[in-house]
Amino acid sequence: AALGVPAGTPARSSCKQELADRPRRNRRSEVFRDAIRETAPVKPANLIYPLFVFDDVVEPDTEREIASMPGVRRHTVEEVVAEVGEAIAVGVKQCVVFPKTPDSLKTRLGEECFNKQGLAQRTIRALKEAYGDEVYVHTDVALDPYNTDGHDGIVDDKIGRVLNDETVEMLCKQAVSQAEAGCDCVAPSDMMDGRIGAIRQALDEAGYEHVSIMSYCAKYASAFYGPFRDALDSAPSAGGAERKVPKDKKTYQMDPGNFREALRELEADEAEGADVVMVKPGMPYLDVIRLLRDNTALPVAAYHVSGEYAMTKAAAMNGWVDERAVVMEALTCFKRSGADLILTYYAKQAAQWIKEDNEA
Ligand code: PBG
Repeated sequence: AALGVPAGTPARSSCKQELADRPRRNRRSEVFRDAIRETAPVKPANLIYPLFVFDDVVEPDTEREIASMPGVRRHTVEEVVAEVGEAIAVGVKQCVVFPKTPDSLKTRLGEECFNKQGLAQRTIRALKEAYGDEVYVHTDVALDPYNTDGHDGIVDDKIGRVLNDETVEMLCKQAVSQAEAGCDCVAPSDMMDGRIGAIRQALDEAGYEHVSIMSYCAKYASAFYGPFRDALDSAPSAGGAERKVPKDKKTYQMDPGNFREALRELEADEAEGADVVMVKPGMPYLDVIRLLRDNTALPVAAYHVSGEYAMTKAAAMNGWVDERAVVMEALTCFKRSGADLILTYYAKQAAQWIKEDNEA
């Protein structure tokens, strides 16, 4: 007790171990912990900010708030430009745009995806007009925000199948129209076979060989996307008696139990010309991030998805976790597992925290 040792603690001399190796020695001092830390802290430059945009002219009554993602909003084009400006000010210079297509513009094939005056295309142009090369704009290539079935591809409703090659043709048109609007990188999130090669060829033929492709390479059929589908109102539709529509995305997105299969996707994407390969979701799939990191020279991205955001936020709002600490820890763990880039709804907030830390 004299030494501040709790009563009942054995005397030091009686419990002494003969240990040559004591890992705790290297953890004793803050100075030294900092000196030997294996993973450099995340920089705002590593972060990509996903943003939801809606059309306030066609759908003026759209709720800004997303119930399952407190703190994340749907933006008008004008608001998205302001939000990206705030992100750039704290060092987050990359964003990815997700349009909420008005119901009146959704069709079976999703042709709105390559409309030059479409919401995504208008947003890209507005961002580039405002910030030019100060911002690096990624876009989502997939049909689910555009088709009435809520699938990433075209549904053949007689046999209940998502068609591959027909879908890829649409995705090529979508990617070219996004490139034409001025995006820096197209990010196909659809998981159709052969789409990276086809999109690469379509971009090149249209004169956009400088536009990059970030492939959603190992994208899993995950329940963690729920809040995202709320945000865009893009969940797979139920179909009905006359129309067969698959109720989930398991025939194109990967099975959560699979690991080796990610290498097969990686090989295809590399051969087809991907510039960046992504793993999605993030935290439950750190092993897959590490697998890609160890098997490619390409940059690897991780998507800290909507459900991960929602879980973190819910716990934080209840006072059950320290939000700032768990978010910064998660970002460090993405880097440790091998991610160069992290897509996260916390991008702007994390960069603000990093700035505060640096100024302290
Ligand atoms: C659509 C797409 C999804 C996400 C990004 N692009 C949803 C899905 O595949 O159903 C999910 C992102 C998130 O949950 O944050 N192709």
